[in-house]
Amino acid sequence: MSKVTVVGAGNVGATCANVLAIKETASEVVLIDIKEGLAEGKVLDMFQTETLLDIDTKLTGVTNDYLKTAGSDVVVITSGIPRKPGMTREELIGTNAGIVKSVMESVIEHSPNAIVIIVSNPMDTMTYLAAKTSGLPRNKVFGMGGALDSARFKCYLSKALDANINEIEGMVIGGHGDTTMVPLVSKATYKGSPVTDFISEDAVQQVVADTMVGGATLTKLLGTSAWYAPGAAAAYVVESILKDQKKVVPSCVSLEGEYGQSDICIGVPAVIGRNGVEKVLEIKLSDKEKALFEESAAAVRKTNDVLKEIGVL
Ligand code: LAC
Repeated sequence: MSKVTVVGAGNVGATCANVLAIKETASEVVLIDIKEGLAEGKVLDMFQTETLLDIDTKLTGVTNDYLKTAGSDVVVITSGIPRKPGMTREELIGTNAGIVKSVMESVIEHSPNAIVIIVSNPMDTMTYLAAKTSGLPRNKVFGMGGALDSARFKCYLSKALDANINEIEGMVIGGHGDTTMVPLVSKATYKGSPVTDFISEDAVQQVVADTMVGGATLTKLLGTSAWYAPGAAAAYVVESILKDQKKVVPSCVSLEGEYGQSDICIGVPAVIGRNGVEKVLEIKLSDKEKALFEESAAAVRKTNDVLKEIGVL
């Protein structure tokens, strides 16, 4: 028996709930939103697919009623506004910080033992805010960005190599921002061989550039930010927790000296299992990657400082 609450019935939250239901990752999924009827409607729509797909995940959609979320094992927070074309994730901070802070309070009140995954943008700063204000240990509150960015990295690598996306390994660490992501070229492989054995350095650099603006490219195409991969990436993290898969997922974790950083939440490879973040893996980075990671951390800190400036921290 496992219960997952997804806060925010927008495109990302609803997709996450739908993937969890379809894969029967949890026995019960609750979708909650502040907009009257939205979560109820999306859940009803999802429930009508269950007989077509021969699944029977228990689904509940509610407006603002956190009592229904009580006792959740995992809570995914997607609340807040998405970006519009031309906006950076950082520009959302003024609106989303207040939302994430109050959602976090309601979540913890009703599910004090839950593992909380932050998806709201700017994700690294929202995770920092949630960690600071909740006082939860770092294994129990962390952010999802690296799973998505790594999926995008693999997508662009598979296109460049004309290879099966599942035979590519690739990882993105650092911040979840257009200029702060660090796709790890040194760790990108195709069937165990470095991707640089198959494509030129220029082609690899193009993949890196495309990955970093992967979200912005979709926002431009769609008029709002993406949802299929973001929702599935959040569900992927939930699955690693509930099934104790101990997958290594680049995740936004509160660092305590790892990678030379502390008092910051930023993307690093982490082992995700039943206890949430069970371990931060300290992998060897090239000098260039180390420098990029440090630049990324400096940029994330700058966005974190805004939390104090606007008085939410
Ligand atoms: C993206 C948003 C969800 O990267 O951050 O698509």
